Amino acid sequence: DMGGHDTYMHKEISEQAEAVDRVLRGRIDDRFATVHLGGLNLEPGEARRVRRIKILGCGTSYHAGQIGAQLIEELARIPADAEPASEFRYRNPVVDPDTLYVAVSQSGETYDVLAAVQELKRKGARVLGIVNVVGSAIAREADGGTYVHAGPEVCVVSTKCFTNTVVAFALLALHLGRIRDLSVADGKRIIDGLRRLPGQIDEILKTEPEIKQLAKQYADARSMLFIGRVRGYPVAREASLKLKEVSYIHAEAYPASELKHGPLALIEPAMPTVAIVPDDDLLEKNRAAMEEIKARSGRILAVAHQVQEKADHTIVVPKNEDELDPILMGIPLQLFAYHTALALGRDIDKPRNLAKSVTVE
Ligand code: M6R
Repeated sequence: DMGGHDTYMHKEISEQAEAVDRVLRGRIDDRFATVHLGGLNLEPGEARRVRRIKILGCGTSYHAGQIGAQLIEELARIPADAEPASEFRYRNPVVDPDTLYVAVSQSGETYDVLAAVQELKRKGARVLGIVNVVGSAIAREADGGTYVHAGPEVCVVSTKCFTNTVVAFALLALHLGRIRDLSVADGKRIIDGLRRLPGQIDEILKTEPEIKQLAKQYADARSMLFIGRVRGYPVAREASLKLKEVSYIHAEAYPASELKHGPLALIEPAMPTVAIVPDDDLLEKNRAAMEEIKARSGRILAVAHQVQEKADHTIVVPKNEDELDPILMGIPLQLFAYHTALALGRDIDKPRNLAKSVTVE
């Protein structure tokens, strides 16, 4: 049942405020400025002994994991990184007893992720799951974890589950942070930020008519560049994947800091750039990158907290706490990918050559 929407993708994008509300519900502890994650199965003493966190997933779940790694580093100050599970399992990884492994999957059935979990367990590692589908193979195989409560996701292209997974990572990061060195004040600040998310998502969704117009203007591109730095970079990667999957326009994501090291050579009017420009301590750096692109007659669509003079167009999104900004900045670009695909007449819910869950190698 699409509930009045033409596609599941549109329905699922539109459901994100309620979905985020669900992942937060019943978990916030205002007294201790923390959150409780029932199924984590990680005692505070164990949480304090974790020296590293390694996040594994594929596709969109891997991108959610990249944002998750940054959140964990920022809030819990535990070194963390994400890697495609499909690569990890083939490189005879060093499995370290002080590392906590986190497997991320919407379906909970992705074969490469499941195989990585099984290999880790065989070597005695502790593995948590951040999964959407309750009772799925990865959820059962993991030692503990948390469900992301996005609700059923039917469209092959993941949208609401991405957002909820990133929120689930913010909860995990806050939980670990408050067991370690995150202050009460910072804990409260993040909790307040989390509570603002559903309302801010609704604000973004209201700008859909404007995003639809923009998508029509960029739909003639043969290729697009997506740039961001640090917090903005995984957002750029995910937005680029969304556009490729659903519109078949080639898109490539690059850290804005790497432009001079190669991709600037591609810039010309026929190669537009989408720039993720949060209002944080890297704002000036991102403005300088846009200037470089403009100087080479590149078209720029910015996603930012205020209108960007250097860009041809800006999609303005509401500001949250710096750490939580990536959760919101990807949402208008889901709509951008959707409307680009619609303008090009694509089969939105079932892009060619793709399956919802990849249960084979
Ligand atoms: O079910 P999973 O989250 O494990 O799926 C992983 C990827 O196959 C999935 O995210 C894929 O990249 C989607 N088509 C993204 O839109």
